[in-house]
Amino acid sequence: SSAACCDLILFGSCGDLARRKLLPALYQLEKAGLLHSDTRIIGVARESLSLAEYRAKVGEDLRQLLTRETLDESVWQRFEKKLSYCEIELSDLDQYEALTEWVDTSGASEHERTPICYFATPPHLFATLCKGLHSVGLTREPTRVVLEKPLGQDLASSQKINRQVAEYFHESQVYRIDHYLGKETVLNLLALRFANSIFSDQWSHSTIDHIQITAAEQVGVEGRWSYYDDAGQLRDMVQNHLLQVLSLIAMEPPTRLDTESIREEKLKVLRSLRPIDRDNVHDDTVRGQYTAGFVGDHKVPGYLEEEGAATDSTTETFVALKTHIDNWRWSGVPFYLRTGKRMPHKRTEVVITFKRQPHNIFYETQSQLPPNRLIIRLQPDEGVEIQMMNKVPGLGKQMQLKPTTLDLSFYETFENKRIADAYERLLLEAMQGNQYLFVAREEVEHAWRWIDGIRAAWQQLPEGPKTYQAGTWGPTAAVTLMAQDGREWDDED
Ligand code: BG6
Repeated sequence: SSAACCDLILFGSCGDLARRKLLPALYQLEKAGLLHSDTRIIGVARESLSLAEYRAKVGEDLRQLLTRETLDESVWQRFEKKLSYCEIELSDLDQYEALTEWVDTSGASEHERTPICYFATPPHLFATLCKGLHSVGLTREPTRVVLEKPLGQDLASSQKINRQVAEYFHESQVYRIDHYLGKETVLNLLALRFANSIFSDQWSHSTIDHIQITAAEQVGVEGRWSYYDDAGQLRDMVQNHLLQVLSLIAMEPPTRLDTESIREEKLKVLRSLRPIDRDNVHDDTVRGQYTAGFVGDHKVPGYLEEEGAATDSTTETFVALKTHIDNWRWSGVPFYLRTGKRMPHKRTEVVITFKRQPHNIFYETQSQLPPNRLIIRLQPDEGVEIQMMNKVPGLGKQMQLKPTTLDLSFYETFENKRIADAYERLLLEAMQGNQYLFVAREEVEHAWRWIDGIRAAWQQLPEGPKTYQAGTWGPTAAVTLMAQDGREWDDED
């Protein structure tokens, strides 16, 4: 069903995120008939643009960005009419007056629009944005505010941001984005776990040996070296995306599919993460930084040779780590997390490795059969795969077994279904007032607490990140991290 009628006020609307992700997502929602016909999209930025110029700019971006399709002119005509532009220098509180034009004072319910203020700006502006919105009456219910990452650099700075926002908005009005929660396959984790008894009954230390979560990226720092260098892969990917995926994989069944139940269960997981400190940081974490190499056929520079790079940075572009969730369900089950830039492929997946059969009746020489694995491919090539042993058909003296795969590819199974971008879903949910795919304040803070512990421990180590060649799976120490436990990463190719 289409979303409620909204005024979507897009702060930072000439920035990268709005141009590359948000406006294309809104266009797709329009195309799918999911935007209310009276919804308005109000771009706010400091650029001096007339309405016609702003619309033309958005149109131009869309024409460039749509890769698998061309711009549908009739959709564009409808969409264009929804676009307005408001010029504000965001750091100047006096200029927020300009927004009053967009405050709906009609009061008549059939015209009522829910204001949604989307902060696609650097977070140091959030406090000013809140004040400015307050001055024009745009913080009152039912206004919603959508916050983009990075929500801080550590616990202290994220608490500061959350406090500043909380001065003006109630938590029920705040929508913190983690775009992984908008991905089709990440959501499918809920379906997989809680709609299938074969998995829900087999989801604990009694059947599972260990769990791996990998988010490998082919890209490097993509022209944002100075932002990235302040963050590093641990804060840029693990604190948010990987820990959110981990929470969904590990959480207890929520009572209902609603915001409160899901957030509560995710939070319990984050609270149960075993801290990594100076005692185990050396054995349980690996940091890497890429040097020049080849990704596919492309020669790419090393991290320290990227445009704008400082040559002495020790920022990590790769992290692998082992952690435990100290609760009843996961006792003794290690979780291995790995993410890096300039890996051989883009691949985000969760691999659940089940315990081996206690006894092998098939071969006398080989004592153990390979374990079953459930592989959840989050992107690309979305799907679910089960690795299992099968008899090789044929007559023979001995029963011959072979590892085989049950493969459910989403593209093949749900033919013609376009997989929506994460931002399409998240914008739609925000417009519908559903918070369950957004991150609660407490979750963000618990995640930071755990991450801060790792960073503090890293600082005590004499050595910095190990190098790895671009186009490889990270430093060899990442292989050792698993090998020391008698395990290996899935599918190193
Ligand atoms: C962003 C990070 O949050 O996620 C980027 O800042 C990263 O560094 C990106 O490349 C990965 O997202 P996706 O959807 O491509 O897996």
